[in-house]
Amino acid sequence: MGPQFGTMGRQMEDYPLKDFYSDIYTSYDRVNRIFTFGRDLKWRRRAASECLDPDPDKVLDVCTGTGDFILEVASQGREGISLTGYDFSKTMLQEARRKQQLMQERNSAPPVEFVEGDVGAMPFEDDHFDAMGITFGIRNLVYQNSKASQHLSEMYRVLRPGGHLVILESSRPDSAIWRFFNSIYLQFILPYLGGVISGNLKAYRYLASSSRNYYSIGEMGQILEEAGFMIGKSEPLFLGSVMLVVAVKN
Ligand SMILES: C[S@@+](CC[C@H](N)C(=O)[O-])C[C@H]1O[C@@H](n2cnc3c(N)ncnc32)[C@H](O)[C@@H]1O
Repeated sequence: MGPQFGTMGRQMEDYPLKDFYSDIYTSYDRVNRIFTFGRDLKWRRRAASECLDPDPDKVLDVCTGTGDFILEVASQGREGISLTGYDFSKTMLQEARRKQQLMQERNSAPPVEFVEGDVGAMPFEDDHFDAMGITFGIRNLVYQNSKASQHLSEMYRVLRPGGHLVILESSRPDSAIWRFFNSIYLQFILPYLGGVISGNLKAYRYLASSSRNYYSIGEMGQILEEAGFMIGKSEPLFLGSVMLVVAVKN
């Protein structure tokens, strides 16, 4: 049997995720840079190039947040590509649109359409997108989330057969020593520093604890296979505390 959703030693409960993100959108990017020592930009660049291989016409960024990933896809993408960022947080999307405007003033990257809505019920047709990315968002959709299966089946539905789903996410490192240090960092440093910078300790407690308890790269692969995907690539980054997974819709 594969890993179970929401059984990481606690009863399944849904977090008020929308409220969390609506509170921290102004400091979210800054906190990301600090906590990953700026490496998240490099990982997103890598994930974007995976998403653009092999030359999709329509790309969806699920849980786009402030748009860092889809804006990176835009900066690497060719003219005429159709790009959509999707998220249920109005304020995160406001920030994404503001960043897109700044980017367009500086260069002529393809435009991104930012759409507000829940991943559990996406307003897109079956098999619509050629490629899909989700960076630091899938944890929100499956960790102790009663709608985990619904989220995964919606993502599966809107991707075309053969289309690539690129996932960049925190992961539980395989090495016991690194797992120990990673866990100390996530339990005792990240929530408090994130809390101080953003003014929302509760949100960063959730983000840190969901990262600490989240799946290993192997477990993530099993979950995706159970949702109907085939694993094309899975690569540990940052000594296994981050994973890059490319899954293909069967
Ligand atoms: C950790 S942020 C990741 C943002 C961005 N992808 C990045 O790489 O920084 C997670 C995002 O997922 C969004 N989110 C969480 N659950 C969602 C759902 N069910 N439907 C739509 N968006 C959701 C939140 O609003 C938030 O913006």
